[in-house]
Amino acid sequence: MERAPLIDPFARPITYLRVSVTDRCDFRCTYCMAEHMQFLPKKELLTLEELDRLCTAFIDLGVRKLRITGGEPLVRRDIMTFFKGISRHLDSGALSELTLTTNGSQLARFAPDLAALGMRRINVSLDTLVPEKFAAITRWGRLDQVLEGIAAAKRAGLRVKINAVALKGFNEDELFPLIEWCGAEGHDLTFIEVMPMGEMGEEMRLDQYWPLSDVRARMRERFTLTELDESTGGPARYVRLEETGQKIGFITPLTHNFCESCNRVRVTCTGELFMCLGQEDNADLRAPLRAHPDNNEPLREAIRAAISRKPKGHDFDYSRQKVAGQMSRHMSHTGG
Ligand code: GTP
Ligand code: 5AD
Ligand code: SF4
Repeated sequence: MERAPLIDPFARPITYLRVSVTDRCDFRCTYCMAEHMQFLPKKELLTLEELDRLCTAFIDLGVRKLRITGGEPLVRRDIMTFFKGISRHLDSGALSELTLTTNGSQLARFAPDLAALGMRRINVSLDTLVPEKFAAITRWGRLDQVLEGIAAAKRAGLRVKINAVALKGFNEDELFPLIEWCGAEGHDLTFIEVMPMGEMGEEMRLDQYWPLSDVRARMRERFTLTELDESTGGPARYVRLEETGQKIGFITPLTHNFCESCNRVRVTCTGELFMCLGQEDNADLRAPLRAHPDNNEPLREAIRAAISRKPKGHDFDYSRQKVAGQMSRHMSHTGG
């Protein structure tokens, strides 16, 4: 099979694909979704077979890391059938990593199967360890269910990275409790700057924004931070806390743009390919998938054409007390 790599106009090799398998979620995190979302009718969604063909086409084109997202990926019906099928590319060595970003609610059920098919680590979103605050930020979530899910993942041998969106006035007081809990449990931890996605009010986003430069400064008051060179292939930059040996990641789309080393694109559950999280341009991959059920070449051609117009980066900006670069689509549309 062809292995000509995908290279974008800025000479960035595209080797990381994020695929959203559903727009649905059992939570309604305030920074990610509206409370009342209109979900897509089933016929709009790519079938599990189509998702498999699509991922396989990207792997043929050199993608080495595949992350399944949502909505919440584990609420998609029969999703384990998809995972089992696609894990053949791990067995063959074509994929170096198959992984998942999840809210953790269904992990108690699925973690052993995920580990058994060759998944090694997963990312779980968790912004607070206080049950009432968790209920408030997720609107519908229950903290104990997620903690049970995370514990099940650990028991199954999956490494867990906790993703916490840094939110001023919300989890500022939990910076050290989150670090301590992750240290005690053996989880990695990454903080994320809140991005202007969805139709939230401007003041709200600016009020919530807690720059990770501040988070770092706060951490330096208690710990010695050593910058690390390593990368997991995602956008996070890591430091080690010398006192505890923990690794902490920072995803800083606002304070430090990382687009120049971008290696990734995203596909939504209807087969739209977004070349950048922070731009509107996208390509329809569902049409070539459905028009040519037995031939992946038109699909590969559509992918190559789309990559040839991948933009340089996002335009998110909160400076001058104004939100710029806002996306009208919600984060749940592209899975982050
Ligand atoms: P690792 O494999 O652990 O490095 O994962 P990751 O950081 O690539 O994936 P994850 O799903 O944990 O993403 C964490 C956050 O990073 C999400 O909020 C994403 O939206 C954000 N993120 C990932 N890639 C990009 C990107 O290209 N641009 C921007 N602005 N944000 C990104
Ligand atoms: N800004 C930053 N991160 C976000 N996420 C969801 N919405 C936003 C946003 N507006 C995060 C989730 C999850 C990841 C996929 O994206 O917390 O960890
Ligand atoms: Fe669901 Fe994740 Fe969005 Fe929260 S951030 S509503 S868990 S998709």
